[in-house]
Amino acid sequence: MDNEFLACLQRSNGCLRMEALDLETLADRYGTPLYLYSRAEMERAFHALTAAIASREHLVCYAVKANSNIAILSLFAGLGAGFDIVSGGELARVLRAGGNPKKVVFSGVGKTRAEMRQALQAGILCFNVESANELVRLQAVAAEMGLRAPVSVRVNPDVDPKTHPYIATGLTRNKFGIAFPQALEVYRQAKGMQNIQLVGIDFHIGSQITETQPYADAVERLAAMVEALRHERIELSHLDLGGGLGIRYRDEQPITPQQYAAAVLPRLAKLPHKIILEPGRYLVGNAGVLLTRVEHLKRGAQKRFAVVDAAMNDLIRPALYDAYQHVVPVRSRPMPSQNYDIVGPVCESGDFLGLERPLAIEEGDLLAVLGAGAYGFSMSSNYNSRPRAAEVLIDGSEAHIIRQRESVESLFELESIAPLAAK
Ligand code: LLP
Repeated sequence: MDNEFLACLQRSNGCLRMEALDLETLADRYGTPLYLYSRAEMERAFHALTAAIASREHLVCYAVKANSNIAILSLFAGLGAGFDIVSGGELARVLRAGGNPKKVVFSGVGKTRAEMRQALQAGILCFNVESANELVRLQAVAAEMGLRAPVSVRVNPDVDPKTHPYIATGLTRNKFGIAFPQALEVYRQAKGMQNIQLVGIDFHIGSQITETQPYADAVERLAAMVEALRHERIELSHLDLGGGLGIRYRDEQPITPQQYAAAVLPRLAKLPHKIILEPGRYLVGNAGVLLTRVEHLKRGAQKRFAVVDAAMNDLIRPALYDAYQHVVPVRSRPMPSQNYDIVGPVCESGDFLGLERPLAIEEGDLLAVLGAGAYGFSMSSNYNSRPRAAEVLIDGSEAHIIRQRESVESLFELESIAPLAAK
């Protein structure tokens, strides 16, 4: 494995470090399982992306769902980022982190009336509307409040993003966005609505996209749509190209921000609009690792298992998408490696972090699961009554705890025993 996978990690004296701190010390201090994030790597990714699109007026709206810890949101807010949200909960987090509501776009197919009110109250940049019914509901809510709702219509460009089917969103069989012919109709409807202000158009075709072609195709269709709208005197101020930029987990050759920009920007050259992007994974994925300790080495009839203290409740991507993430020993051992399935203590055969991995390890060793900054903690759960892991943000030689490890008591804090009548 070459160092490219270890964007934020180095090995020194045989031990992995994130920025200036070694992972053994961090595990001793905070316990395991533990999420660690590198400030430097998140900032590097943010600057790489903004530099690539600097020739255009732009706003990078970090997709909160990738990692919604308020310390991470605050870091991106400090860099000037906006935010892509999909719930009232995410909006509350952005506001709590000091994010600017005027830089917030609100995506998602199921916005409730309460969420619409909350976002109108906050004064967000726009609602990415995903259906004609949502538009009608938004008009009614805005009218009740005596406000105008800024709207972008999320189109479904029907392109294949060539990614895992669960994270493909831009095909017409997916629930997302509005197909082009209907989208034109929705724009016409919106134009006639008193409490709706048309400000943009958007798409998001999928996640972990590693090629330029799907973006190029989608952008071309979007540009044609904008021209069609102009003919109807519908003028917009921004074009939102969604997120989806892939990262390297294994041997992918993901497109760089420069290649991305070279594929999309020329196709938008005739359009003066501001460009909005909604990246999640690209900004945080390779900035994070999940640190876990080997509890047992078990020799089964057919396989060797490394039973670790992190599980599918901490990181569900391998179980849910068959996703591959590197698992690296924190300290290298001068001994031959064996193939292990790296499994957690959860009672499911799908509870694995990696399969058939060659590792030279002993009980008590620490392992780092790489590429865990995106969709790691944010998709974690308490399954099997497992308190969720702590999260730590590394900044050079400083470590900041940004989420305490959950206590067992907190798991049933909201529960109560029903006073059942005696039988
Ligand atoms: N914008 C919208 C409207 C989205 O739905 C998403 C992600 C993004 C932006 C950010 O996409 P990104 O840049 O992170 O690819 N849990 C899956 C990924 C689900 C993505 C959902 N939508 C995973 O772990 O691979």
